[in-house]
Amino acid sequence: MKRGEHMRFPDRVRIVEVGPRDGLQNEKQLVPSEVKVELIERLAEAGLPAIEATAFVSPKWVPQMGDSDAVLRAVLSSPRRRPGVAFPVLTPNLKGFDAAVEAGATEVAIFGAASETFSQKNINCSVAESLKRFAAVVDAASALEIRVRGYVSCVVACPYEGAVDPARTAWVAKTLYDMGCYEVSLGDTIGAGTPASVRRMLEACAGQVPIERLAGHYHDTYGMAIANIYASLELGLAVFDSSIAGLGGCPYAVGASGNVATEDLVFLLDGLGIETGVDMDRLLAAGQFISRHLGRPPASRAAQALLAKRSGG
Ligand code: HMG
Ligand code: MG
Repeated sequence: MKRGEHMRFPDRVRIVEVGPRDGLQNEKQLVPSEVKVELIERLAEAGLPAIEATAFVSPKWVPQMGDSDAVLRAVLSSPRRRPGVAFPVLTPNLKGFDAAVEAGATEVAIFGAASETFSQKNINCSVAESLKRFAAVVDAASALEIRVRGYVSCVVACPYEGAVDPARTAWVAKTLYDMGCYEVSLGDTIGAGTPASVRRMLEACAGQVPIERLAGHYHDTYGMAIANIYASLELGLAVFDSSIAGLGGCPYAVGASGNVATEDLVFLLDGLGIETGVDMDRLLAAGQFISRHLGRPPASRAAQALLAKRSGG
């Protein structure tokens, strides 16, 4: 797209809420399972179509997700469960996949990386080995008609290796897509991307995978996530991951802060006239609920401003 040229944005964006997983996996205090379940239910009631509920990973590696079985079972059997809402869960290997299926999962996510060192630190194996494990998960999932979402971490930069070649990211994204992932989410794990580097990365990925099968997963460490989303919308990306109240980070990416806040994303999309199906009032209440529990205000600037305005502050 040439400078000054106006692209037609998508009419509708699908938001994948990742706060209960990507957010809470990084909280120092263990959040009780009932609080997680209440948060997930409030997020569903706010109109979010997909909520990543938990991760079936090793509790020795990520103790915060040690209650994955209890959380997923409670969410799926709740009388408040809303039809049509997806609850994907992370499954790094067949052990995690089998446990997720046992708990009733109907959608899982595999998570690879464009960076070799990050792969080792995060899931204790090389990128090549991870792809073999993921292929086994995808095969098992397809036999059970379970949908699989793919993630690529460190799509523009790695906390250990620095800048990542867009062609490398695009290759991992294509490999996950060709394997059978219905969508590949592109993770700027340490939030170091800017609209220029994100655009280069996205153009490389869209050359390998149809753009309607890609999603943006941008952390807000440097305050660039909303700008990166805007740049991605200009290229036609229409699925974004975000985290209520801006919770989160990654335990294996030191200094990584939360994902773009869902409240900020919805404020942006509402302002652009792009439909999301999300009710801002309910979303704010869900953010206040978890923020009260964590004992700090929401990291979302939009939430802070809207709440202050509503309370006459
Ligand atoms: P490992 O130690 O290499 O695994 O860990 P292993 O196969 O050698 O097994 C060792 C032990 O772990 C055994 O137990 C296994 O049973 C157990 P033991 O005999 O010692 O008692 N084990 C498991 N337990 C529960 N669930 C499992 C599982 N697999 C093995 N699935 C492993 C490999 C992948 C398990 C480990 O490295 C791990 O759990 N890592 C955590 C990764 C993680 O959750 N990272 C954060 C999420 S990724 C992220 O945040 C990025 C993202 O948001 C996108 C972005 O922002 O870029 C998605
Ligand atoms: Mg993340």
